[in-house]
Amino acid sequence: MSIIFKDKNARLSYLLYISFVLLFSCNYKKINNKNKTMDKTSNHSYSNYQDVVIKHLSLDLNVLFETKEIIGIADLKLEKLNSNVNSVILDIKALEIDKVTDSDGLALDYSIGKEDEILGSSLTIQLPKQGDNIRVHYKTTKGSEALQWQEPAQTLGKKHPFLFTQSQAILARTWIPLQDCPAVRFTYSAKVKVDMDLLPLMSASNPQHKNENRTYTYEMPQPIPSYLMALCAGDLEYKSLGDSCGVYAEPAQIEECANEFEDLQSMIDKASELYGAYKWGVYDVVVLPPSFPFGGMENPRLTFATPTIIAGDKSLVSLVAHELAHSWSGNLVTNRTWNDFWLNEGFTVYFENRIMEKIYGKPYADMLALLGMGELQNTLKDMQETHPNDTKLYLELDGRSPDDGMTDIAYEKGRFFLLMIEGVVGREEFDLFLNGYFKKNAFKTITTAEFIKTLNTDLLSKNPEWKSNVNIDEWIYSPGLPSNCPFPTSTEFDKVKEDVSMFRKDGIIPNTANYTTHHWLQFLRELPDSLPTERMAMLDDSFDITNTGNSEIACDWFKHAIMSKYDVAYPAMESFLIRVGRRKFLTPLYGRMVESNQKEMAKRIYSKAKSGYHSVSNNTISALLNAK
Ligand code: BES
Ligand code: ZN
Repeated sequence: MSIIFKDKNARLSYLLYISFVLLFSCNYKKINNKNKTMDKTSNHSYSNYQDVVIKHLSLDLNVLFETKEIIGIADLKLEKLNSNVNSVILDIKALEIDKVTDSDGLALDYSIGKEDEILGSSLTIQLPKQGDNIRVHYKTTKGSEALQWQEPAQTLGKKHPFLFTQSQAILARTWIPLQDCPAVRFTYSAKVKVDMDLLPLMSASNPQHKNENRTYTYEMPQPIPSYLMALCAGDLEYKSLGDSCGVYAEPAQIEECANEFEDLQSMIDKASELYGAYKWGVYDVVVLPPSFPFGGMENPRLTFATPTIIAGDKSLVSLVAHELAHSWSGNLVTNRTWNDFWLNEGFTVYFENRIMEKIYGKPYADMLALLGMGELQNTLKDMQETHPNDTKLYLELDGRSPDDGMTDIAYEKGRFFLLMIEGVVGREEFDLFLNGYFKKNAFKTITTAEFIKTLNTDLLSKNPEWKSNVNIDEWIYSPGLPSNCPFPTSTEFDKVKEDVSMFRKDGIIPNTANYTTHHWLQFLRELPDSLPTERMAMLDDSFDITNTGNSEIACDWFKHAIMSKYDVAYPAMESFLIRVGRRKFLTPLYGRMVESNQKEMAKRIYSKAKSGYHSVSNNTISALLNAK
């Protein structure tokens, strides 16, 4: 868990304090690796993937809502890379292992290593005498952190329960025994049986309708890393949005979602024009219950998305462009370790903005880039004092949870690094390079050092001036923001700046006739954290911001409400916090309550809300509230 997880707007002086506390508590706890030789590259896995790898995973899952468990058989087809190897080591966490056999059902010896709080345990299995397959019979437990079992009350329809998984970064091992590290890619097939009338979906070929025997099959013919294993099941309906894409959502919301994602096919087309054909067949999005701890998750063929992006006016769909872009950066070309996380996210934010520019135009994309720069500056301010080393693009996470690296640095510093290169070499050359990069590394994993090498040979070597102008080493291996960082400009936001200054100086209510969501966000972010209550009331009386249906605006507004003790907004904020479990919103809101001496309120709301949050969010928020 990390207090500074990609919290887009966090700039809390208190965060410095909390981060400091966490540094010495759970977050920075040394990984217990006494029972196993950890890989030197800090890949957060016990697996001996240099000697033997999973080539194909065949899953047989029985999803039991009744008891909130999955009973599974994972059949792993292995390939030996070293003829002397006689055991395979898998990662498991909070799994009950029933037995391990070969494909004929003959028992194989296995042992489970000591449990580490972050990594879980190693599961060492004797390789079979015959054949390359091993079969692990297991079941998940209450501690299986990837899983969130939702009560019917937490869904839109209120009638059916819901289940979803979140495997990234290292939670796949809490629902499937496997080599849980991004360096290993495998294909998979699955059979899933559910004990209720629900539609289960995976990061694979998916059904579009429920069937009577409640048993479904899936294929993922392209090799993927374990963090992209995903499953959800709920009362879901499908609606097509084009030749190769569609959306799944609860019946009550399917039309709304289809309207919101109207531009999906065009996003796929534009993305393919930019960086080469889409390699995964179809691209669907499933809209999950609001407790989903992230905005989106790029599960291949089926992005998981929070319903908080359904704003009614498509204003938050850049998130879908982001998850779609991962179909190239991340899913096709994958970070080899979590230290290289920026290769997934920085590229994706850059690519996302290119898609947005193609569809909605440059002024729109510039607003998004400028909002991103604001977030980056805030994050840098928060982190520079306490953990400056985590502001390098290349992370050194050894012994820490990968979550610690999931900050705006990977996303936004990564994006601006690529934008800077684009500026130096020109867009045409850069696109040529990126096309080659995706082609050459498709279905492979890559390290930061390998990326630098490719960048040098395939691009920068073309012109000696380019190399000295980009300053790779400082960007990647030094903290902070190098001086050649491009700074986006936006004439739209210049107007917002004037509005803010007139409001601050003379209390003049801005004319917001032409405001989009992004103007509003910039307006709120340009205001000081705390405002006199009358000023808050003036804005609220004019625009009823407290009751906005836009989750991003709501979150920014509630931050001001907390810091200004504008309690008119508190009931709306409380219901937002109870309904929504997206960590990016929770962290700054609970954080500000603590900072402004309203911790009692934070605790009271959290006690009502926490049963509806995913473990990812609960870990962060409980650490935040339990810190002194
Ligand atoms: N892959 C990430 C989500 C993630 C990262 C989950 C690390 C677990 C560990 C996803 O693509 C993402 O970046 N989501 C963002 C949205 C995006 C528009 C910045 C989010 O959830 O906020
Ligand atoms: Zn992402």
